[in-house]
Amino acid sequence: MPVAEDLVAPVRERRLSLLRDGRGDSAEAHERRLLAAARPALPVLNWLGQFARPLMKVPRLGWVTADPLIARALLNDPEHLTLLSEGGVGHLWAQILGDWVYDLFDGPGHHDLRTRSRELFTEKTSRAFVDRAWGERLGRARAAFEAGEPLDLADLSRVLVGQMVTTLLGLPVETGRADPDDAYREIFATGEELAAIALGTTASTELPPEVIASARAIVERLTGHIDAVYASADRDTIIGRCRELGLGLRETKGLATLLMVAGTETAASAMARLAALLVDSGEQHRLLADPSHREDAIREALRVTSPAPIIGRSVMADLEIGGRTLRAGDRVLILTWTANNLAGGFRVDRPYLPQLRQLWFGAGRHLCLGGPLARAELGAILDLLLGDGRPIRVARRRYGHRVLIPAYAELVVCKDAAPPR
Ligand code: HEM
Repeated sequence: MPVAEDLVAPVRERRLSLLRDGRGDSAEAHERRLLAAARPALPVLNWLGQFARPLMKVPRLGWVTADPLIARALLNDPEHLTLLSEGGVGHLWAQILGDWVYDLFDGPGHHDLRTRSRELFTEKTSRAFVDRAWGERLGRARAAFEAGEPLDLADLSRVLVGQMVTTLLGLPVETGRADPDDAYREIFATGEELAAIALGTTASTELPPEVIASARAIVERLTGHIDAVYASADRDTIIGRCRELGLGLRETKGLATLLMVAGTETAASAMARLAALLVDSGEQHRLLADPSHREDAIREALRVTSPAPIIGRSVMADLEIGGRTLRAGDRVLILTWTANNLAGGFRVDRPYLPQLRQLWFGAGRHLCLGGPLARAELGAILDLLLGDGRPIRVARRRYGHRVLIPAYAELVVCKDAAPPR
């Protein structure tokens, strides 16, 4: 198995930059501090990961790799690796949702689910979801921002993602709040709560009974309404579309839970980090000078932030890879953040990297289902930030502490110059 040599060439330079890591205001320094604030073990793992080429065995963790080609090979090998046994997210979800997860998340039912849900998020449907869920709120945010008001993009991202979940799942929303955004903040927080169950599972995915009980209560809060709306849900909601695609009630509720867990924190994390990267790297000026790099900027933000920094798998059957033998029962951690960042920092004109493809969305049969939606969401944020052709600056920032997905708790951005008269 060849190692991705052309990707790892800048590694030496990056090891040196690790020494400077804690200091400075570079985009890289902020990203690394953000990771450390989220989970103190992450920088250590990422640092280790730079040596984990092609693979390295780490006591108590198992096999670790940050090699993009090995990562892809592992993610594309359902014969030897699974996410369902101890150590994978499937095992986590089976304890919460029930044994049917074993079929639907990675078993024969998964193939059927993915085949049927292939058309859920295309470029076109994703843009339509963004327009419908966010159009009005983004319009207001943009008008205020361009008029000179500071904008906490971390907070707005959580509100927008809450709104997206509401739209996708047709969730009933409480009205009549003093601040209508509060209802969406709460929905986001519920998703966060559910995802937090995965916190501390880097070493084990065996959940204690009280955690299982509270997770089940959260799932019920988010998907309980689906029983009543499944039969009549509009075709332009995800529930209606799932029904039209032939997914039963149980699969639809399972998929809804997955969307909630997989597509909330990750998306919100990427949105605010995109803004910070544009400013910290100075690349916003190059993007403003040449807006044809819009899609490249989105891809680069996803690569550099890699909001799902680790993907876990378990070995089902012995396998030879990268000159090492992985034994049945071993665990594997794929360090996507490290692998994706080997190529260097955020550059809006960096060409597509074929070795990586879109490793930030995983690979193989579990490749992110919401990739086109995430890209459409980031595109809308880019337009909000730079759509009037003027640069932005970061006025204030706070990293999120002890969160599953590294993210800004607060990122206040402002327009640099006065609006044109
Ligand atoms: C920047 C945003 C996002 C990132 C970085 C991301 C990343 C990922 C990754 C790495 C996986 C694979 C996990 C594995 O192999 O174990 C995944 C799976 C998934 N993602 Fe995303 N995701 C994002 C946004 C979204 C959105 C917006 C949605 C939908 C609303 C979504 C829905 C899913 C689903 C349903 C899966 C499970 C697919 C399966 O198991 O077959 N994701 N995502």
